[in-house]
Amino acid sequence: MIAFPSKLIVLEVCILGSLSLLLAQEAMLFRVSEVNVAMVALEVPEVITSLTSCAIRCHMLAGSCFSFKYNLVTSLCSLGSWIVPSNGTSSLQPSEGLFTTGAFCNTSLNFTLETNGTASVCIWISTKSYNYTTSVNSCLARRMHLYTPKTLDKFSIMTSIVIRLQKNFWIGLDDIEVENVFRWVDDGSLLDNNYRKQIFAPNQPDNHNGSEDCVAYNLKYFPLNDGTCSSALPYICEKGTTESTF
Ligand SMILES: *[C@@H]1O[C@H](CO)[C@@H](O)[C@H](O)[C@H]1NC(C)=O
Ligand SMILES: *[C@@H]1O[C@H](CO)[C@@H](O)[C@H](O)[C@H]1NC(C)=O
Ligand SMILES: *[C@@H]1O[C@H](CO)[C@@H](O)[C@H](O)[C@H]1NC(C)=O
Ligand SMILES: *[C@@H]1O[C@H](CO)[C@@H](O)[C@H](O)[C@H]1NC(C)=O
Ligand SMILES: *[C@@H]1O[C@H](CO)[C@@H](O)[C@H](O)[C@H]1NC(C)=O
Ligand SMILES: *[C@@H]1O[C@H](CO)[C@@H](O)[C@H](O)[C@H]1NC(C)=O
Repeated sequence: MIAFPSKLIVLEVCILGSLSLLLAQEAMLFRVSEVNVAMVALEVPEVITSLTSCAIRCHMLAGSCFSFKYNLVTSLCSLGSWIVPSNGTSSLQPSEGLFTTGAFCNTSLNFTLETNGTASVCIWISTKSYNYTTSVNSCLARRMHLYTPKTLDKFSIMTSIVIRLQKNFWIGLDDIEVENVFRWVDDGSLLDNNYRKQIFAPNQPDNHNGSEDCVAYNLKYFPLNDGTCSSALPYICEKGTTESTF
């Protein structure tokens, strides 16, 4: 019988050059006991001497490694990004333990992990309604960003939420800066023209009354409509990999 710890505390100590600068950083890792989850592997597994060394490797990649798998028999260490729900039975060998930083998408704090196709997102759904700017800022304050459904897979994740909750939501897309030039709020990138045709409702965006610069999922003008930025709507925040910390 192999016993994995349920919590693993990793201490990373950096010694910089000849300076005896000691920088200790602590990270808590939790063993995943649920069966119906799988790890999205970051790279090919490598032989690493111990469970702790594997954990440290994950910790050193903070920002992209949120999980890891370690096999006590083969000493194979696999680093992963997200833990995703899986429909099947466990993909783990009896000698394998799966750990997660936990803090990344903690369901006790109302974060939820949603997946579809290649998209795997950690989101937080607001219960309050705010105007667009306040919604953007509220997500930033959570170290997240207003949801940016830049791919059809990510778009579908949002569609199911909107249909399930029967509410309109802001998304992270606007043409506040230059009329009819829509940009994603997370990195300022331009909305692709072909994609634009696929995601807006017929005849939208129409900048109605010359005052609609912010984009929302809309049950009436489905799926997307441009709306007045000062309107109050609920919003969904998304955790990007660079915004996450241990
Ligand atoms: C799990 O879902 C995938 C598609 O997401 C499907 O291809 C596979 O057959 C399913 N496996 C089981 C055991 O249901
Ligand atoms: C999730 O959040 C709760 C509440 O703050 C905390 O007690 C728990 O340790 C967290 N879990 C993980 C895995 O970080
Ligand atoms: C999570 O959501 C529930 C239901 O909306 C709420 O009562 C609770 O306070 C929330 N927890 C946190 C940590 O925000
Ligand atoms: C996943 O996304 C595809 C489009 O990319 C969509 O056709 C499908 O319905 C989605 N599945 C779920 C379960 O949302
Ligand atoms: C149209 O815009 C004007 C001035 O910006 C505003 O006073 C009016 O309420 C708007 N009408 C609608 C229907 O939004
Ligand atoms: C959004 O709400 C904030 C806080 O109530 C307010 O300061 C800001 O002017 C509003 N912005 C718009 C565009 O309505």
